[in-house]
Amino acid sequence: KLPSLVKLVDVGPRDGLQNEKQPVAAAVKIELVHRLQAAGLKEIEVTSYVSPKWVPQMADNHEVMSGMQRQSDVRYSVLTPNLKGFESALLDKPDEIVVFGAASEAFSQKNINCSIAESIERFAPVVEAAKAAGIAVRGAMSCTVGCPYEGDIAPERVAYLAGLMKGIGVQRVDVADTIGVGTPRRVQAAIEATLKHYSLDDVSGHFHDTYGQALSNTLAALELGVWNFQSSVAGLGGCPYAKGATGNVATEDVVYLLHGLGIETGIDLDALVDAGSYISEQLGRPSGSRVARALLAK
Ligand code: HMG
Ligand code: MG
Repeated sequence: KLPSLVKLVDVGPRDGLQNEKQPVAAAVKIELVHRLQAAGLKEIEVTSYVSPKWVPQMADNHEVMSGMQRQSDVRYSVLTPNLKGFESALLDKPDEIVVFGAASEAFSQKNINCSIAESIERFAPVVEAAKAAGIAVRGAMSCTVGCPYEGDIAPERVAYLAGLMKGIGVQRVDVADTIGVGTPRRVQAAIEATLKHYSLDDVSGHFHDTYGQALSNTLAALELGVWNFQSSVAGLGGCPYAKGATGNVATEDVVYLLHGLGIETGIDLDALVDAGSYISEQLGRPSGSRVARALLAK
């Protein structure tokens, strides 16, 4: 039996735009957040507090976070890889912070410049400080199916990382297919490995669509009872440390799938398509959402 309700986190402003080569004004990011919340999104991943030398596009984190008109029923999350990032984020009062690790050693090194074990040592004080400040903590787990440097990743390595995340008090985790190589059974295996340490309510699916598998993988996760997913409006994005990786699955496409299955999301698809059109126009490219393109062609 599929879940009757699904919660989506739109990660477009962060995952979607972090790899964008052209400058995107803070005002545009703010408008995107406003349009997403107007469309009914209740969770939005806004920005990252990472080194601007590594990810220049997120250097305007303070400007974006302080310029938004917040809604009290929306959860705004931000990425914080270390205490320096957390302290910087704290000034902007996020509702949730995200520490991000990887099931692959090589990806951990390329993405956050440390081993998996070192990353957990860095995250532990961040988790502690967040909890002391009353801020929720999510853990992103990259490369849970495949890694651009190491190839296939075994479910045991996902279970290992999930166990480490649980051990330091991370409240919920994202099972990410960073480079979109996953197929349904392999994604289910990664989720089942995670369920050794986390309950269903605390696991979300984060699927990039590089190989066009993300909707199938979403359905496969729904079949296991997963009801939290991350997606990116207009299918924006790509990871700077995963060459060739395209964006997250488009939020519009996931919403269309869910509504078609009779699953509630609280999202207004037309308003969401407007949000996607807005950012696609700003970036000067067609939307990556098949559903948006179909609806706009009508
Ligand atoms: P490092 O070089 O090992 O850190 O970077 P360090 O502590 O040695 O510091 C070096 C310099 O960075 C210093 O500056 C620090 O002040 C500065 P300098 O003295 O040279 O001028 N620094 C910072 N500046 C701002 N904010 C900070 C911060 N920390 C240090 N928080 C670090 C380690 C993690 C910072 C670096 O590797 C980094 O920023 N990496 C970027 C990671 C990133 O944003 N990746 C993309 C997001 S993850 C993702 O997309 C995957 C996900 O979507 C799930 C999936 O799909 O898989 C979540
Ligand atoms: Mg991602």
